[in-house]
Amino acid sequence: MRRTTTSDLQRMRDRGEPIAMLTAYDYPTAKLADEAGIPALLVGDSLGMVVLGYDSTLPVTLDDMIHHARAVLRGADRAHVIVDLPFGTYQTGWQDAMRAATRVLRETGASAVKLEGGARVAETVRRLVEAGIPVMGHIGLTPQSVHQLGGFRVQGKTPRDGVRLISDAKALEEAGAYAVVLETIPTALAHMITERVRVPTIGIGAGPFCSGQVQVVHDLLGLYEDFQPKHARRFLEGARLAREALVSYRETVASGSFPAAEESFYMDERALALIERMTQQGTGSAPRETPPAAAEGPEAERAELYGPRGSETGPGGPADRG
Ligand code: KIV
Repeated sequence: MRRTTTSDLQRMRDRGEPIAMLTAYDYPTAKLADEAGIPALLVGDSLGMVVLGYDSTLPVTLDDMIHHARAVLRGADRAHVIVDLPFGTYQTGWQDAMRAATRVLRETGASAVKLEGGARVAETVRRLVEAGIPVMGHIGLTPQSVHQLGGFRVQGKTPRDGVRLISDAKALEEAGAYAVVLETIPTALAHMITERVRVPTIGIGAGPFCSGQVQVVHDLLGLYEDFQPKHARRFLEGARLAREALVSYRETVASGSFPAAEESFYMDERALALIERMTQQGTGSAPRETPPAAAEGPEAERAELYGPRGSETGPGGPADRG
């Protein structure tokens, strides 16, 4: 199965097939999303908040993004993977953007970068696209400008702001962006923008008429409880379930019921008896009896951890992950 491309996303938009995009920041999540058939994964700088615990995306560095993107690429074989250029790596000019985007593509294997802003970053987008780097735009609530916007609030509600967002979307399209994220803007305005550009619009808090939707995976799985954006729907009460599991783990350790026999390792009785005798002598000299030789080699190591091949139950069985 080949990896989804920008052309596939354009085809989905042209066919009116909604695009489900999701953020991912690590190997297991990327693998799950890939297996679920999610066609596009965004390594968003939202990782600063939902993974690293900052109160905005501003402290996230390019090295942070690359570190997480590499893990995502190891987990996802099929999804189209986009990586956010973090704050400070492109606002200073297209040359800096080029350096950052080049590092991202070269060091992670991702297919595209995303940057925030409309007309004011159009020249940067144009330069990257000319250099062969696919760029996704992002307008509306742009979290890297949270201080300028006065907080995380709905954008484009006045005629002046609405008109500006439409021309921002067009400027990005003209500069060569292959898709544009519309974040936290009224449904009707997002609809209007979607009808006026030919590239896919990907909404988050922008209503159902965009070409696709993107959500932060921690919101979707209920793993981030600091706040829940109005646009987010929890498909799982992840934090509650995880908390219950962790309490249960603590209680089973406290009661002595974990680990059980099937979660423990066993050894040859004769070897154990020898160890006992040898250490009771307390001489530290060479043993008078030769201990039974331990099995060696990859197959023996596998059997030690996971049990003999074909064995389904019992101590050291396949469920055992050491
Ligand atoms: O960083 C991010 O997760 C994003 C999405 C919210 C679009 O930019």
